[in-house]
Amino acid sequence: MRSALAVLAAIILAAPALSPREEHALPKPRTEGGMPLMQTLKNRRSSREFSPKPLPDQALGDLLWAACGVNRDDGRRTAPSAVNWQEIDVYVALADGLYRYDARAHALQPVLKEDVRALAGRQPFVKHAPVNLIYVADLARMGKASEADKVLYSAADTGFISQNVYLFCASEGLATVVRGLIDREALGLKMALRADQRIILAQTVGYPPQ
Ligand SMILES: Cc1cc2nc3c(=O)[nH]c(=O)nc-3n(C[C@H](O)[C@H](O)[C@H](O)COP(=O)(O)O)c2cc1C
Repeated sequence: MRSALAVLAAIILAAPALSPREEHALPKPRTEGGMPLMQTLKNRRSSREFSPKPLPDQALGDLLWAACGVNRDDGRRTAPSAVNWQEIDVYVALADGLYRYDARAHALQPVLKEDVRALAGRQPFVKHAPVNLIYVADLARMGKASEADKVLYSAADTGFISQNVYLFCASEGLATVVRGLIDREALGLKMALRADQRIILAQTVGYPPQ
């Protein structure tokens, strides 16, 4: 008779494997075109209804580059950051896993091989939307700033990234909403964040429902 351990192993091996994509470069961002700025501002809004249709890699890469990609040879980014600390990491929760955006490489680094979207926010639409960005401040990058300054500047720096995402979405006809309603403790535990990494906000992105 098979031992309980062997039965358990057989069940685990028989389970469909989650297959997160390996670390991979995103397509070169398309930096030409887009909607004129004033029209984009006119369209900027929060939306809370999303199609489950995934974003193609090109759109995902363009979105992340717009959020805080490198736009100059010295490594500076599309979003400003206090003292150029670049302390905000953008994590990307997709159906096939959790990734971290590596802006220098313009690539997604796999973090977790599971769908964590249900933990990315308290609102029902979050777990069905194709993309949830999670903005995480790494306070260790903020030098000797006081705790109060770290809180202030990491929140401000997140706001710039979020607004870039809002404007990109408005220009591309995508739906988005930035969110503070997050169970930060549960999500931080799942992401195995260090004590000096803080979840500031999250932002859902996807196509509007058809
Ligand atoms: C810091 C911040 C946190 C927010 N948190 C949430 C949230 O948790 N859930 C949500 O549905 N909207 C959230 N919003 C979106 C606001 O509700 C929205 O921006 C506001 O109603 C104005 O609507 P508009 O963005 O379409 O102009 C947040 C906005 C900001 C700036």
